[in-house]
This record gives sequence, structure tokens and C-alpha cells, in this order.
Amino acid sequence: MRQIQFNGQPTSIIGMGTWRMGESSEKRDSEIETIRYGLDHGINLIDTAEMYGEGAAETLIGEATKCYDRSKYQLISKFYPYHATPELIKKSLHDSLNRLQTDYLDVYLLHWRGDTPLEETISGLEEVKKAGYIKDWGVSNFDIDDLKELASLPNGENCKVNQNLYNLESRGVEYSILPWQKEHSISFMGYSPFGSDKNAYLQPKEIVGELAEQKHITVFQLLLAWAIRNNNVLSIPKTSSVEHLKSNLKAVDVKLTSDELNILDQYYPIPTHEVPLDTI
Ligand SMILES: NC(=O)c1ccc[n+]([C@@H]2O[C@H](COP(=O)([O-])OP(=O)(O)OC[C@H]3O[C@@H](n4cnc5c(N)ncnc54)[C@H](OP(=O)(O)O)[C@@H]3O)[C@@H](O)[C@H]2O)c1
Repeated sequence: MRQIQFNGQPTSIIGMGTWRMGESSEKRDSEIETIRYGLDHGINLIDTAEMYGEGAAETLIGEATKCYDRSKYQLISKFYPYHATPELIKKSLHDSLNRLQTDYLDVYLLHWRGDTPLEETISGLEEVKKAGYIKDWGVSNFDIDDLKELASLPNGENCKVNQNLYNLESRGVEYSILPWQKEHSISFMGYSPFGSDKNAYLQPKEIVGELAEQKHITVFQLLLAWAIRNNNVLSIPKTSSVEHLKSNLKAVDVKLTSDELNILDQYYPIPTHEVPLDTI
């Protein structure tokens, strides 16, 4: 499995997203099997959040991973912005750890920015870090100005990860967020490489299908291969199916030629100026 240096550790270039998992009793066995298949085949990072099924995704992950060596994979969860005070962070974290059947998170993320002053959130995160319940903390859905503001605050430089939308159609982060995060050693996680559930948000242009066909790969494989093409983004596709996961794992080895990338750039241009952050 291709690795990326993520928060100072060699990590699989794709992790497992888990939004909308754990919510259907019919899919439960397949979802558990899928998470285990991923861990058995080189994926060593799982992304989740207290929001996903109001804890149901974390509960599913807890069950799927209970027989695995915890030191061999990273677990990332997120708390709601309205749980971002020191007291509520402690409670949310405690609940997430219980559901996940673990005693620490590798990284804990503020899911998106809310009304709680960032100083308070940082202080809550530093407290739980000091107590050993999380190894590191970060943020999600932060635009460049939010990142700069965070970095200017006491202990703000301890932010280790920012997780934002990143796919062929939403590449605004390439303009300033990716370079800024690289300069400040903040790892970037890209979510929704396929544009989220049932392609609700990403309707690939015809050219994507044509290129995929020429390469004898699927559109999903092309989209994922594109998101991780530069080894600077850890992408976290979600799937509830082992067959889809197998296909996603194969995409890790797909190389897009410079000609193919140039064609995609013509249809999905590289940003040449700051654009407001896309989110889902
Ligand atoms: N921080 C945030 O605000 C935020 C926001 C959104 C997402 N996220 C994270 O990012 C993860 C990924 O994003 P996402 O769940 O929104 O969407 P996504 O990964 O872009 O797409 C998931 C959809 O693609 C399908 N799929 C996956 N692999 C496939 C394949 N090989 N062939 C055909 N279909 C395939 C899945 O269906 P099947 O399950 O049937 O395979 C599902 O419908 C989330 O699960 C979550 O962990 C974070």
C-alpha cells in the first residue's frame, strides 16, 4: 500500500470514511466485513465523527476493530462545534471512546467552526491531550483565514490536521490551503473523493468516463487516483461494500499520465485565485 507521511507517521494514502455507516441493520455485516478487509489489506486509518448516525458509525467501528491491535491503525473522530467548550469536549470524547471501544484517539477534530471562541476549544483539546485521551488534535472545514487565525492563538501551532472537501470538482484548496498547510506541517485530509453519497454532489463530465474507459478503470477509480496523485492528500473514501473497497484499493496503484492530467485540468481548471471553501 502506498504510504503518505501523515501527522509524522507513515500512513496508507487512503483511509476509510464512515459517514452513513452503522445506520442500517441490513448493511451491518457487510460494513463490519469491509472495515476488517481494509485493515487486513494495508489501510491503517479510519475517519469518523460523533455526528455520523449520532454515534452509530463509532459503535460499528468499535465492533469491527475490537480484535485488532490498536497500535496498528489510527482512529480519527470529530466533535460538533456546539460541543467545543472544554467541558463538552471532555464529555463528547468520553462518549466517542466508549463507542469506539478504545482508550485514545490518534487525532480529534473540530468538525466545523462554530460560535465557541477558538481559544476555548484549543484549551479543551490541550487538556485532553495532556491527559492522554488523544495524541493530537486538528480541525475540519477550515478556510485559509481560519487556519491563519488558529495558528496565531496560544497553542494554535499544535493543530496537526485539517480535513476539507477535495475532489476533481472542488479543488479550491490547491490555491492556498495545501501550500500553507505544507509550510506549517499540517496534514491535509481530503473528504468525499467521489462527491459523497450516490454522487449527489459530483456529476463527472463525459471526459472523465472517456478517460476511465481508455484506461480500463472505473470512474470511481479515476476520481480516487486523481485525488491522491501528488502524494500530498490523504483521501478517505467511504464504502460499505468489500467489492467497492477492492476497487478503491486498486485505484491506489493507478498512475495518471501528465497528458491525462492536463486534459482533466482543461475541464476542471486549477484554481488561479482564492475561492471560498467548498463544504458538504
Ligand atoms: N469533515 C467533514 O465535514 C466531512 C464531510 C463529508 C465526508 N467526510 C468524511 O469523508 C468520508 C468520505 O466522504 P463521503 O462519505 O461523503 O463520500 P465519498 O467517499 O465521496 O462517496 C461515498 C459514496 O461512494 C460510493 N462508493 C464508494 N466506493 C465505490 C466504488 N468503488 N464504486 C461505486 N461506488 C462507490 C459509496 O457507496 P457504497 O457504500 O455502496 O460503496 C457511497 O455512496 C466520509 O465517509 C467521512 O468520513 C467528512
